[in-house]
Amino acid sequence: GRRGGTVIPVSAERAQPQREEPSTLDQCRRCDLWRNATQAVPGVGPQNARIMLVGEQPGDQEDLQGLPFVGPAGAVLERAMAEAGLQRDSVYLTNAVKHFKWELRGKRRLHKTPAQKEVAACHLWLEKELERVKPEVIVALGSTALKSVLEKGSATMKSVMDAPFQHDGRWVITVYHPSYVLRAPDEASRHQAYEVIVDGLRQALKLIG
Ligand code: URA
Repeated sequence: GRRGGTVIPVSAERAQPQREEPSTLDQCRRCDLWRNATQAVPGVGPQNARIMLVGEQPGDQEDLQGLPFVGPAGAVLERAMAEAGLQRDSVYLTNAVKHFKWELRGKRRLHKTPAQKEVAACHLWLEKELERVKPEVIVALGSTALKSVLEKGSATMKSVMDAPFQHDGRWVITVYHPSYVLRAPDEASRHQAYEVIVDGLRQALKLIG
């Protein structure tokens, strides 16, 4: 039999640790990525920005600084924005996933693509940002961003990169992720990818007239 026969009540909090909606991003435990991250990286920018840029997830620098797009990919993005005539501080910059997912390679923390369940878990936070900022145009940087923006949509990058389309009453423009520009195998494809980003940002500007 049970020792002493006393039933120790399990508190509601202990019984349902995952059910409760986290009240702040920093306390989010909806997936496990927080465990290996320094901090959550929220979006930045004007709360009434008309254009929202959505990336994949913070990188090494972003994780350490707590700000999106402050590392090498951010430098590419900044150059593309300048070329398109878009001021960095006029847009809202955020990511589909708010914690850095990485694996150790030698001494470097190497980026790992987030799993679909992690993108889905983090969608709540993007949704909150969309509700608050209400951008007219979303620029999805890469396929992780596109997946989160479309939620259960099945569009591939290739099928939507040609032209802006409407989703949930907003324009969505899809371009390559800026780190793709850094990783592309040769100068010609780097240049082509970069031009797709610049062109997408120009289209975003055009849409808000
Ligand atoms: N790549 C992203 O997608 N987002 C960042 O914030 C930095 C790099």
